[in-house]
Amino acid sequence: MAAPVQGWFDDRSGWSSLRKRLAARRVRGNSPLLYVGGLLAFLLVLQVASGLLLLLHYQPNAAEAHASVAFIVGGIPYGALVRSIHLWCSDLLVLTVIVQLFSVAIRRAFRSPRELMWVSGLFSFFILLAFAFTGAVLPWSQDAYLQARVGSEIAGQMPVAGPLLRYIMRGGDEVTTATLRHAYGFHVAVLPAALTGLLFVHAVFLRRAMPEPTSERTPGTIPIYPDYLVRLGTVMTAALVLVISLATFVERPLGVAAEVTAAAPDGASPPWYLLFVHDLLLRAPPELLGVPSAKFIVGAGAVVILLAFFLPFFDRRGSRVTAALSALLLFAAVMLSIHAVL
Ligand code: HEM
Repeated sequence: MAAPVQGWFDDRSGWSSLRKRLAARRVRGNSPLLYVGGLLAFLLVLQVASGLLLLLHYQPNAAEAHASVAFIVGGIPYGALVRSIHLWCSDLLVLTVIVQLFSVAIRRAFRSPRELMWVSGLFSFFILLAFAFTGAVLPWSQDAYLQARVGSEIAGQMPVAGPLLRYIMRGGDEVTTATLRHAYGFHVAVLPAALTGLLFVHAVFLRRAMPEPTSERTPGTIPIYPDYLVRLGTVMTAALVLVISLATFVERPLGVAAEVTAAAPDGASPPWYLLFVHDLLLRAPPELLGVPSAKFIVGAGAVVILLAFFLPFFDRRGSRVTAALSALLLFAAVMLSIHAVL
């Protein structure tokens, strides 16, 4: 019974010949890039799938947003699990891209011909951060409201583009109910469209920049089928087990509904990947080199980000200095984040 069904399926899908072709092609089995890309794609699929499920019951207006998320969590079977998967997956996505970006910088893998992969990868990272920021506003809890104020205030300190960025993030001059509408439009329409376009471009550059799979049995290479695909499947299964375990056992409380008239956002805690900026801003003296310290620190951060985009063009060979500075930056950010938590 199985053989005729397999033959019927083969005729229509061409699976057997594809499998033979994949078994004849080999890739470098120990290249982390081959697995990180697959892992990111998998997390993104999980994120979009859980986001679409949330969309079925979420109400994008200030009067009902918080109650609708409370209903998802308390009134719908597995709703709490789906929301928690969306939250944990978001954190893992951001973490994986940070690790990937620093690993590329430290290994100097942005060199020719991979310059445009680096640039499109960096853009994708900022789109993911925008997803995380707008998503955090959507439950319209007190924490969401404070994060919207703190996040947009920090971005507003950026030289030149700061005020415009703050305006876009708030959907106006202040954080109001319009901020929620804006965040929703970005989260479910603008950012998914932008990320899809960018990932397509990234994949085109990747295809051009990565060595073609070979049919030669050189040391360190493995067949795409089954070896590489089985290894990739193991990485994805491990990620799925991790996300579901975190979502099941580590609670992410929703908190109380937002009070838009609330006073200054004292005590608002930023997301983990911005802890180091927040810590620097809190502990800095009022002025640095005659400039208000918030403007100085955010301005310096903006310069580092701008330089990072052009890194492969001014450091064509990928110098050891760049690699050492990247490692130092990562170390400082981790230390400051630990300091902020303790
Ligand atoms: C097309 C893809 C996506 C859709 C349709 C979607 C949809 C949603 C919806 C409807 C909510 C509100 C419900 C809630 O707050 O529980 C939400 C919240 C959220 N989203 Fe997404 N999302 C998508 C992608 C992403 C991505 C890529 C990220 C992060 C990298 C992200 C991060 C978040 C976060 C952090 C929340 C807050 C969850 C909470 O505290 O309740 N989302 N998303």
